[in-house]
Amino acid sequence: MSDPLRLGVNIDHVATVRNARGGSTPDPIRAARLAEEAGADGITAHLREDRRHISDADIEGLMATLRVPLNFEMAATEEMHAIALRHRPHAICLVPERREERTTEGGLEVAREENRLAHFIAPLLDAGLRVSIFIAADTRQIEAAHRIGSQVVELHTGAYCDAHAEGRFEDRDAEMKRIAEMAAYANELGLEVHAGHGLTYETVPPIAALPEIKELNIGHFLIGEAIFRGLSPAIKEMRSIMDRSRTV
Ligand code: PXP
Repeated sequence: MSDPLRLGVNIDHVATVRNARGGSTPDPIRAARLAEEAGADGITAHLREDRRHISDADIEGLMATLRVPLNFEMAATEEMHAIALRHRPHAICLVPERREERTTEGGLEVAREENRLAHFIAPLLDAGLRVSIFIAADTRQIEAAHRIGSQVVELHTGAYCDAHAEGRFEDRDAEMKRIAEMAAYANELGLEVHAGHGLTYETVPPIAALPEIKELNIGHFLIGEAIFRGLSPAIKEMRSIMDRSRTV
């Protein structure tokens, strides 16, 4: 039997809706508490440079109230480095960030920035934070993440999910095969393997079935589904699909 698979619920888009009106509702911290009660093993939040969804006060509130670990997504900038060291969340996940993008579009280019990133993560590791890097399922990026001392890689599932949504099933299957091979390779190197981006009830089963993957981070689909059936049932259904996919 594979190890249990953790579910990290990304609450960024509760903050997106709140910020559309500039007020205080819906409250992402309330969403995080509900997610905990519904079976989330962790909460993920991305403090973007432009603060378009999660705010500094949200991170403070999450650190003060959460019972499950916070996975703090951030760009590799000096500002975020200082914030991570100030709050000391359970984990940080380095993601690429561009102002003009609607969401995190690709993985981080670790191989190209190896030296800088090695110096960037060293104090975070020394402070006891679990360091993860969000990368494409690619040997070069995995090997670079391993060389610089990252404990975790999160494999980007966006291309796989897009191909499924657009009915490009050959591309989808090729992406899935690549993710499976790269999860096995990263695991062999001793990295903990996570995955996420764009996952839905339809796309999660084969990813959840990969024994090397220990955590999935899922946000946009769950927050959308919550509009129709409520956050708690939406999360419970995801949890149950993940668990079933893991055991078959
Ligand atoms: N993992 C990482 C590193 C991300 O940047 C995101 C998107 O913020 C997710 C997972 C979740 O993706 P989605 O919101 O599409 O489920």
